[in-house]
Amino acid sequence: MQTPILRCSGLRKSFGAHEVLKGIDLTVMKGERIAIIGGSGSGKSTMLRCLNFMEIPTAGQIELDGKRIGRVVATTAQGEKVNYPERELCDVRRRIGMVFQQFNLFPHMTVLQNVMEGLITVSRMEKGAARARAVAELREVSLGDKNDAFPSQLSGGQQQRVAIARALAMQPEIMLFDEPTSSLDPELVGEVLRTINGLAKEGRTMLLVTHELGFAYHFATRVLYLSDGNIHEEGTPEQIFKNPRNEKTRAFIARSSEFSL
Ligand SMILES: Nc1ncnc2c1ncn2[C@@H]1O[C@H](COP(=O)(O)OP(=O)(O)O)[C@@H](O)[C@H]1O
Ligand SMILES: [Mg+2]
Repeated sequence: MQTPILRCSGLRKSFGAHEVLKGIDLTVMKGERIAIIGGSGSGKSTMLRCLNFMEIPTAGQIELDGKRIGRVVATTAQGEKVNYPERELCDVRRRIGMVFQQFNLFPHMTVLQNVMEGLITVSRMEKGAARARAVAELREVSLGDKNDAFPSQLSGGQQQRVAIARALAMQPEIMLFDEPTSSLDPELVGEVLRTINGLAKEGRTMLLVTHELGFAYHFATRVLYLSDGNIHEEGTPEQIFKNPRNEKTRAFIARSSEFSL
C-alpha cells in the first residue's frame, strides 16, 4: 500500500466560540488533484490554511508523507494537546506551497526578486543558484521576459503567474490554490487556469478551491463539496457535478451553474 502524501483526520478549527471546521477527514495520494467547492464561509480557506499550518488546527492530526506533524504533549478528556515546533512548521510550509486569491507579491521587488526571496531567506540558497532557479520557474509560467518588471507593471493574470512561479520555486510536494482566479478580470482567468492545467499534466499533487466549476470538472480527479465545516459529499467530478447524491450538493451545483451556457 502506498503511503498517502497528506492525510488529516478529525481536523477541527475554531475561532473563539465559532467552530469553522468540524472534523475533516481527508486522505490525499500522490498525483491526486482535488477540487474543493462550497459556499462562502463554508471553511474552504480555513481548511487549506490548516493543512499547511498557516493556521494551527484546534484538534485533529495531519500527516505529511506518513509522518505526523507536531508532538502530542498531553492527552486529556478534551483530546490531545499537541505542540508544533516552529522549525517543523517552516519545513511543512516549504513542502506544501500555497497560492492565494490576492497574489501577495512584494510591490517594491522585481518579479525575479519576488521569486528568489523565499529561496534565499527560507531555503538558504546561494544567490546565484536562487537566481538561476527563479529564471527557470518564470520561464515555466511563460513570463521569461518579465524578470525585471515590478508587480504593478503586470496584469493581474501575470501577477498570479508570478505567485505560482514563486511557490513552485520552493519545489513543494503539494500545491494548494485558494481561489486563484477569483480576483481576476474575466479575460485573464484563462491564462492562469492554463498554467494550473500545465501543472496537472506534470502529475503534481494539488488541492484547488475554486468557483470555476467547468474547470474543476476537467481538472480534478476528485471533488469535495464543503458545507458548514464538513465534507458534505465527495466523489469523482462526474458524480459530483452530474449526479450529486445529496440534496444540498445538488442545490449548490444548480445555483452555481445557473447562468452558465
Ligand atoms: N482568522 C479568523 N478569525 C475569525 N474568524 C475567521 C477567521 N478566518 C475565517 N473565519 C471565519 O471562518 C468561517 C469560514 O471562513 P473561510 O474558511 O474563509 O470560508 P470560505 O473560504 O469557505 O469562504 C467564516 O465564518 C469566517 O468568518
Ligand atoms: Mg475562502
